Amino acid sequence: MKKILAIVLALAFVLGCFAACGKTESGTATDNSLQNVLDAGKIVIATSPDFPPFENLNDDGTITGIEVDIMNRICTKLGVDLEIDQYDFDAILTGLDAGKYDLAVSGITATEERKENALFTDAYCLSAISLVVPEGSEIKTKDDITDKTISCQNGTTAELYCNSNNLKNSAFAANADAQMALTTGKVDVWAIDKLTALDMVAAYNDEHEDKLVVLEEPLTYEPYAFASKLGNNALIEAINGALAELIADGTVKSLFDSYGAEYVDPSVDPTV
Ligand code: ARG
Repeated sequence: MKKILAIVLALAFVLGCFAACGKTESGTATDNSLQNVLDAGKIVIATSPDFPPFENLNDDGTITGIEVDIMNRICTKLGVDLEIDQYDFDAILTGLDAGKYDLAVSGITATEERKENALFTDAYCLSAISLVVPEGSEIKTKDDITDKTISCQNGTTAELYCNSNNLKNSAFAANADAQMALTTGKVDVWAIDKLTALDMVAAYNDEHEDKLVVLEEPLTYEPYAFASKLGNNALIEAINGALAELIADGTVKSLFDSYGAEYVDPSVDPTV
């Protein structure tokens, strides 16, 4: 009997150790996020490459853009490779928990609401949402859109803005389709992040007789950051360290410059 008790106690001790080993002091599971990336020798990112100049799918199948360039530099600093996986935008943040990728990199606005379900890096730039209209449209400012129809991308902050302001909107999985809804007259206005609007509108206007215009006044201002699964603090801290160096030494700004995109520091208050 004594022997059985001793075995049970020993077993309990071993199990207790395992449980303790799997926990940090705060009682949450061990954070292997950085070690896993280092062991794998790569960071796997999820992106929706329909968002120039941040990530764009080229005709030859490669994905290029400002965020790809920033991530390549972060990976160099961490001594790992970059793997890019493609998803629809609205699946990226919701898919973080499944663990198929380490990081969501997709022109993602770090909102307070999203921070409840994902762990964000520090912001690396300030962006805005703009309105795009056909040339000659009667829509001149955001005050003119209350009774208009709007196109946007599924799961984006543009869609959230429309929904929370009770605006009539059609959301599309791909940005190109949101743009096409405007150019084919199915909607009156297209809501899309400013730098992407400028890029896609310039490309469209180059090839078409009918022209599009990006309205001057933005709908909102939004900081962009990368996101990982809640609990992946070690990975996010390492990325923050690399990102801070790339911002401080001017690399991030020079990458924006190389795409002809205006860089706005995330600490700027655009309203003053
Ligand atoms: N910044 C917006 C958001 O976070 C839109 C991002 C769209 N990104 C993309 N790769 N299509 O909701």
